[in-house]
Amino acid sequence: MDIIRVEGGYSLNGSVQVSGAKNSALKLMAATLLAPGTTVLQNVPNISDVHVMGKVLKRMGATIDVVDEHSLAIDTSQVDSWEAPYDLVAKMRASTAVMGPLLGRFGRAKIAMPGGCNLGARKIDMHILGLEALGVSFDTDHGYIYADAGEGMVGTTVTLEFASVGATENLIMAAVRAKGTTVIDNAAREPEIVDLANMLNDMGAQISGAGTPVVTIEGVEELHPVTHRVVGDRIEAGTFIVAAALMAGDEGVEITGFSTVHLGMVIKKFELMGLNIERIPGGVRVYRAQHIRPMDIQTLPFPGFPTDMQAQAMVLSALADGSSIITENIFENRFMFASELVRMGADIRIEGHHAIIHGVPGFSGAQVSSPDLRGGAALVVAGLIADGRTEVSAIHHIDRGYEHFVEKLVGLGAHVERVSVPDSLDD
Ligand code: EPZ
Repeated sequence: MDIIRVEGGYSLNGSVQVSGAKNSALKLMAATLLAPGTTVLQNVPNISDVHVMGKVLKRMGATIDVVDEHSLAIDTSQVDSWEAPYDLVAKMRASTAVMGPLLGRFGRAKIAMPGGCNLGARKIDMHILGLEALGVSFDTDHGYIYADAGEGMVGTTVTLEFASVGATENLIMAAVRAKGTTVIDNAAREPEIVDLANMLNDMGAQISGAGTPVVTIEGVEELHPVTHRVVGDRIEAGTFIVAAALMAGDEGVEITGFSTVHLGMVIKKFELMGLNIERIPGGVRVYRAQHIRPMDIQTLPFPGFPTDMQAQAMVLSALADGSSIITENIFENRFMFASELVRMGADIRIEGHHAIIHGVPGFSGAQVSSPDLRGGAALVVAGLIADGRTEVSAIHHIDRGYEHFVEKLVGLGAHVERVSVPDSLDD
């Protein structure tokens, strides 16, 4: 199996450009189903989740040309199936993002019920409730969800119980083809949703209010293919900000390719913790933190502190000169990373949705395992400052959402490598 081996203590210098946002690219790919013809997506991250979404679309009859490493030409004109099969949904629950577009294009969808994941149940009840309000009927049978728009969806007002990112996206992608006006109240406001709405509007949709809690969609008869550039990955940028805060050399580290507006709460919190983050064109320059102040953090829907930065923030808090509490409000089980960091010497106690963190002087390198995508990346980052060698396993999680993660870190001067080691069970 592959692991990432980190030798701690080497400073980071130079600059790194983040890739396109995974959590936008996957939905933009699904949305191409709404516009028969060839849509070209640029700045697409070359990551395994994108490859899986490509398989989902090809299974439905789409063709995908990899124009270059970061540009996909997706032709959905020949799509003649509306099924997201179990083997792919089980691999990546974001495959459920095809439900809205399939309903918009064909008036029906057959989606394997998404299992849970390391973060929790990951239900889609709000997706279903919202789509039912638009007139879609649902049935479940043998592990599949059957959605049927019958005579066609009719716009209405849908109030989300929680500002769910996925539910907001599926509802937008269905409502663009509903008759009349749909209003989504308590909509998620993430920048990736704005990116999706921008592309759909370029395709001929009429969406207003994306990025605010109230999104209004006027249904249209048809959508046409476009060329669209995926927004930069704010979470990848935040991950590198933490790495630089821990290990930047005197000149600091430049992190570009994203909008600081999309990371406002993270930058604000990190500056309060004592990080030195300078805004520059296209991103930030980050200097090594002289010391880290403890800071309580609550994860919340955008513009609150993103749950996808919780593990990375915990690395900083674990080295702060004092005690902090991190509260996870989005997922029911997103603290498994903490127990891995404790193996590296962190002093963290979990109580329900709260992590009580007492800062320690430093980490010691250890063998650890990635619990999920962001936790895995955060363990590698912790290894950069740890004393000695850290070996991170289960790195397929990291490959899902971080393009060329090892190469980017090596480019900054980190002593990090991907190595193959025999599976312990092979003895
Ligand atoms: C998206 O997941 C992201 N994934 C997640 O990023 C991110 O953590 C999350 O939004 C929150 O920002 C993608 O975009 C592919 P939600 P999503 O619907 O859409 C519960 C990463 O690391 N819920 O806002 O699934 C759900 O179980 C990943 O890149 C319901 O109960 O997030 C979760 O606890 C991890 N019923 C919470 O709401 C529903 O119908 C947030 O879910 C929908 C959601």
